[in-house]
Amino acid sequence: MITIIGSGKVGGDAALFCALKKIDNEILLLDVVKGLPQGEAMDLNHMLSEQGIDVNIRGSNDYSDMKDSKVVVVVAGSGRKPGMTRMDLLKINAGIVKDVVENIKKYASDSIIVPVTNPLDPIVHITYKTSGFDRSRIIGMGNMLDLSRFIQFIHEATGHSRDSIRALVIGEHGESMLPLPRFSTVSGIPLSSILPSEKLDQLVQDTRQVAAKVIELKGATVHAPGNAISAIVEAILKDRKRVIPVATPLDGEYGQSNVSIGVPAVIGRKGVEKIIELDLNQQEREWFNKGVDGVKTALAGI
Ligand code: 2OP
Repeated sequence: MITIIGSGKVGGDAALFCALKKIDNEILLLDVVKGLPQGEAMDLNHMLSEQGIDVNIRGSNDYSDMKDSKVVVVVAGSGRKPGMTRMDLLKINAGIVKDVVENIKKYASDSIIVPVTNPLDPIVHITYKTSGFDRSRIIGMGNMLDLSRFIQFIHEATGHSRDSIRALVIGEHGESMLPLPRFSTVSGIPLSSILPSEKLDQLVQDTRQVAAKVIELKGATVHAPGNAISAIVEAILKDRKRVIPVATPLDGEYGQSNVSIGVPAVIGRKGVEKIIELDLNQQEREWFNKGVDGVKTALAGI
């Protein structure tokens, strides 16, 4: 069973993509708001019925229903409003997430947790500390979403099929995120040989800023995060060994400890099965470390 805690737009969309991909037969939507997860589950089941997909979605306000979940996605918390940074949300969401994680410990102690709540990287670290789980079982979804945006910008700039584009974004899921043109290609062809460096700089900037733009226009980001969650859940439950950048606690990798931040990792049934260390150049390392400092400062502030 996959449990999704938080049944707002992103939680509902994550359930939708997980169901369409038939990752598991059972999906549980949990929320403290009475009626919301139940209504969302009904609506989704009606859609699945017409499609002939036998995935069962349930809605509940009772944490004990998540018993025996293999993966628990945590979307609960306040979303980013226009003009807010992800860090503005930390104080509100840290308390909510701690409470949720205590319940995961109680009812799904063998699960893998996928934190999504913002600010993602500090929330991942709080989840790690509160749960006491091995770090391999904490897989924050942030850079997977960032890279979907980077792919879109590369697609717009080159005109090449999205299917041919492999792009990587690591670091903080926030102002200091690090889209990596040096580690991104169109069917193996380095981006640097396709686009001039000023254009690449522009794509990096655009990738950093575009979530705020979507929030300004429609109030929230929904489909790209919902899909990115399902990609990570699928990699875990189908034991795909996909290499995905995820936010996870570091223990010496990239020269950092006592912090969680986005790094490329092999994702399979055991969770984060391996962290991959890239040979970053000086400028890339500076951005990465700037993100680490920001996350550490945020954690120290609560
Ligand atoms: C996003 O990047 C708001 O962090 C959220 O879509």
